This record gives sequence, structure tokens and C-alpha cells, in this order.
Amino acid sequence: MAYENILSALENNITTITINRPSKLNALNQATINELHKAFKKADEDKKTKVIIITGSGEKAFVAGADISEFADFSVSQGEKLAAEGQAKLFDFVAHLSTPVIAAVNGFALGGGLELAMAAHFRIASDNAKMGLPEVSLGVIPGYGGTQRLPQLVGKGRAMELIMTAGMIDANQALQYGLVNHVTTLEELLPFAEKLASKIKRNSSVAIAAAIEAVNAGFEDGENGFEAEITQFGKCFGTADFQEGTQAFLQKRKADFPGK
Ligand code: COA
Repeated sequence: MAYENILSALENNITTITINRPSKLNALNQATINELHKAFKKADEDKKTKVIIITGSGEKAFVAGADISEFADFSVSQGEKLAAEGQAKLFDFVAHLSTPVIAAVNGFALGGGLELAMAAHFRIASDNAKMGLPEVSLGVIPGYGGTQRLPQLVGKGRAMELIMTAGMIDANQALQYGLVNHVTTLEELLPFAEKLASKIKRNSSVAIAAAIEAVNAGFEDGENGFEAEITQFGKCFGTADFQEGTQAFLQKRKADFPGK
């Protein structure tokens, strides 16, 4: 599939999706959001893709936010639609994907950029990365899940401060906050993401999908995470991956999971 604003490449069972508008610091316009939706969906449906890495092109930005030029003259209803459609198409979509998604934050991750990184299942960052939700400096609030996912990841007080000040934190502070799991040099960022992806892809993709669903359930309104865990745990016993994983252990050999 040919894309205009992103690149998608599958290698060694890892699909790397790169947002590729470096002259606009990879800002998320609608066309890019639509392409990202298609690329994530395709990778998730592809049996060969065991892990997805999302990153930005260039050395400056992961994503510098939603494209401000596209919504500057929006009305109330257009604003609401922008947030609702974006959440459904990209941010919630990524968060609920059954294929693990790692965000490799290679520079500015601001507004929608940080929201995209937070929608990923976990994040790593290069030491030049800067993260923040600057929306209130524009007279708006985060609309792609930022008011919910930032407090979930860093705690309410830190999230309130970051949102209210519209400030940026650097990669080391993000590490200290638990917003990112690891910090590397820019050169090492993708190799390190691939190393983590390689560890993940050895495991059962079916079990990982069940784990993602159970973990997410604990953060959904009206869902009981412990009950979701019991259901997902039980479901695993009916899978070929479980048969293979347990037999391989008992036979003292490496598991060869049939997978998704
Ligand atoms: N939407 C649209 N265009 C954006 C953008 C965004 N969120 N962020 C950057 N760009 C564009 C700039 O308009 C500029 O385009 P131009 O060369 O055609 O004028 C280009 O990307 C480079 O950005 P520039 O501001 O010149 O780079 P900088 O190094 O001086 O500053 C930032 C970098 C990230 C501090 C600055 O671009 C910025 O504050 N961006 C907006 C961040 C934001 O508020 N995001 C939340 C949106 S809800």
C-alpha cells in the first residue's frame, strides 16, 4: 500500500510505522491519521507482524502535535467531532490493538504526538526527546485521550501540572515519571526498540493479545479488570499456543507458537 505521509516496513516480524512529514515536524493532519489507521489495521491483521514500532522521521520530532492549521477555524461541533473521530480511528484503536505497539519517541512528542505515544502499549525515548501537552497555550485542551492517559501513566498531580503549565519535560524526567520505560541515544533508539520487540515476539502473540485486553480492562469505565483477567486467563487454555507453550516446557524444548 502506498502512503503519502507515513512509511510502513515489515522486517523480522516487526512492522515499523514512521510518520513522515519532517518539514511539519510530523504534525498529525487528517490525512496522516487516516493513513496511520490503515497501516495499524493492516499490521494487526498481518499474521507475520508480531510487534509494531511507531516512530517519527528525522532527528527532531516524533510528532509535534495535531496539525494546528487544520482546526484553527473549527466550530464547537467540528471540534467535538475532531476529537471523537481521532480517538476512534487512531488513539483508542492503537490502545486496543491486539498486536503490541511500542512508541519510539525520537524528538518532540507534543499534544497529539504525546497522546499517540501514550496510546501505544509502552514507550521508549531518545535523550533529545521533549514531551508535553501544550494545548491550553492554544486555548484548547488535549482531545485525543491526553487528559485520561497522562494521569494514568504519571499520576494526577504531575498530569495536572504538565497540562496546566503547557510545559515540556525532557526524556530523563519522563523516565523518572514512568512516562517512558527507557532512554537511549538517538542512534540507539530503533535498534533498542527492535531488541525489545525481538524479546516480545518469542512469546505467544495470542497470550499477549489476551494480556493487553486484561490490562486495558482495568482502565475502562464499567469494566472489572480482575474479572476480565479471569475470562482471558480461561480463554488461553483453549488455544493452540497454550498447548504448544506447556508441551514445549514439559518436553524441555523451545516453544514454536502457532500465534495469531
Ligand atoms: N501543527 C502544524 N504545523 C506544525 C506543528 C503543528 N502542531 N508543529 C510544527 N509545525 C510546523 C511549523 O508551522 C513549521 O512549518 P513552516 O516551516 O511551514 O512554518 C514547521 O513545522 C517547523 O516548526 P517550527 O515551529 O519552525 O520549529 P521550531 O524548532 O522553531 O519549534 C516546536 C518546534 C515543536 C517548539 C514548535 O513547532 C511548536 O511549538 N509546535 C506546536 C506544538 C503544539 O502546540 N502542539 C500541540 C498542538 S494541539
